Parts: sequence; structure tokens; C-alpha cells
Amino acid sequence: MQIHNYEKMWLVAALVLIVAIIATITYGTVGLGIAMVDDTEDTVDPGALEEEDGFDDPGVTQVGENEYDVHVIAYQFGYDPGDEVNGEIQIPEDSEVNFYVTSRDVIHSFSLVGTNVNTMVVPGEVAAITAEFDEPERYGIICNEYCGPQHHDMEGIVAVVPEEDFHLFTLEDVEAPDEVELGDDATFDVTVSSDHYDERTTTATFEAENETTGEEVEVEEELTFDGHDTAETTFTVDTDDFGTGDFDWTVTVEDEIESGSVAVLEELEEDE
Ligand code: CUA
Repeated sequence: MQIHNYEKMWLVAALVLIVAIIATITYGTVGLGIAMVDDTEDTVDPGALEEEDGFDDPGVTQVGENEYDVHVIAYQFGYDPGDEVNGEIQIPEDSEVNFYVTSRDVIHSFSLVGTNVNTMVVPGEVAAITAEFDEPERYGIICNEYCGPQHHDMEGIVAVVPEEDFHLFTLEDVEAPDEVELGDDATFDVTVSSDHYDERTTTATFEAENETTGEEVEVEEELTFDGHDTAETTFTVDTDDFGTGDFDWTVTVEDEIESGSVAVLEELEEDE
């Protein structure tokens, strides 16, 4: 049988196209390493997320040298963490990040603009998605599912920050008195947590100044954490040195600050 040369050419061209299409699809699904969102994650109770592992304390946790878990709760109308109210999600450069996102009310989505992180967020389900971040950069989080009247306000930030600016220490609590009697110690109980997976140290700084007498005190305390851990320390101000009047205090851990003021009184009024 005689096949015309033109026909041969077109046959070959068609075959090449078919192979190219299959290769492209194969590369897109397998070669790029894009994982589809699947249903292998556990289900959660959207009404009791405070009892679910990870969602009881949403945010960033270090799980390996360059690996981080980020638990996010989507709600009407924002992300915890990730939005203006709950603070942006900070992760370090050159990290692999596992996002676990769920909703406590209706269907939302969690989409990082400019990346392939884009998943529907269904109450009761945990959407798990892993992404790598190399360079410092800020990514917007948006909700792609219409979820109510303020759907368009649902937005947030994932900030990839330089390694040296990154830490996972949280100033959880400062228990401070409102007033103390002259001669008594004013004590400040400070609780700090670490979400790093390995042993770390950080410094808690206490500063106080009496505006009337100009008396100042500054104390630093080193805190050591053995992995995911909390540490406590107590700062004490001798009010005999400080005299009566109000004094302002601040406690600083990395970029986290708590402050307040204490009234030093000649005599505490008895509570009736
Ligand atoms: Cu949430 Cu739209």
C-alpha cells in the first residue's frame, strides 16, 4: 500500500501530539509533586475545636529542623491565626510547611495568592496541604467560597520571614498586681511558651520605672525550653526602693511586650 508522504507526516505529527499531551498531564500530576487534598485526615467536631489536637492552640509549631505544622481555623469572617484580629502567620524562609485548616461554621476556602495552596475548608473535615517557602515574601490569604455577607473581608497574611527574625516564643501571661502596700514586694509571674521542637533559650526582660521618683529597675532572666514547653519566672520589685505612687512596668520576650502599672500605696484599703 502506498501512503502519501503528506499523510505520513500528519500521522507522525498527530502521534507526537498525543504523546506530548500524555507527557504533559503525567508531569503535571506526578512530576510537580502537587498533592491533591484527600480524605485521609481525621474528622473533627466543628463545635468543639478547642478539644481537638492542634486546633486547641492554633498557630505555628516546629516539627522538624525545617518543618512546621500550621493549624488554622476558618470562621465567619476570618482566619485564626492569619487575619488582622488574630495576627499574621509567620514562618521562616527555607521551610516546609504543613497547613491543617478546618472551619468552625460554614464552608470557606484557604487560598494563598500566587501559590498552588488552594483548598476548600469544610466544617468537620481537616484540609491538609504542604508547601515549601524559600524566600522571604508576604502572601495574601483569601476565601474563594461565598460564605456570607462579609465574605469579601475574609483575608489574611502568611509572612515568610528571614531566619534571624523568626522565633516561636510566646509571652503567654504576666500576672501582676494592681496595687501593693509600701514595704511589700510587687511580684510579676511571667509564663512563656516555646513551639520550637528542640532545646532553645530566650531572654525575658523586666523593666519598671516610677515616674514620680525616677527610680528604675531592669532585670533579665534567661529561659530554657526543652522542645514544646513552657517556662515560668518571677520578677520582684522592692517597693521600699520605689516609694509610693504609680510605676509602669513592661515585660519583653523577643518582639512580644506586655505592660501595665502598679500603684504603691501607704496602706492598702481593706476590702469590705
Ligand atoms: Cu469564608 Cu468566603
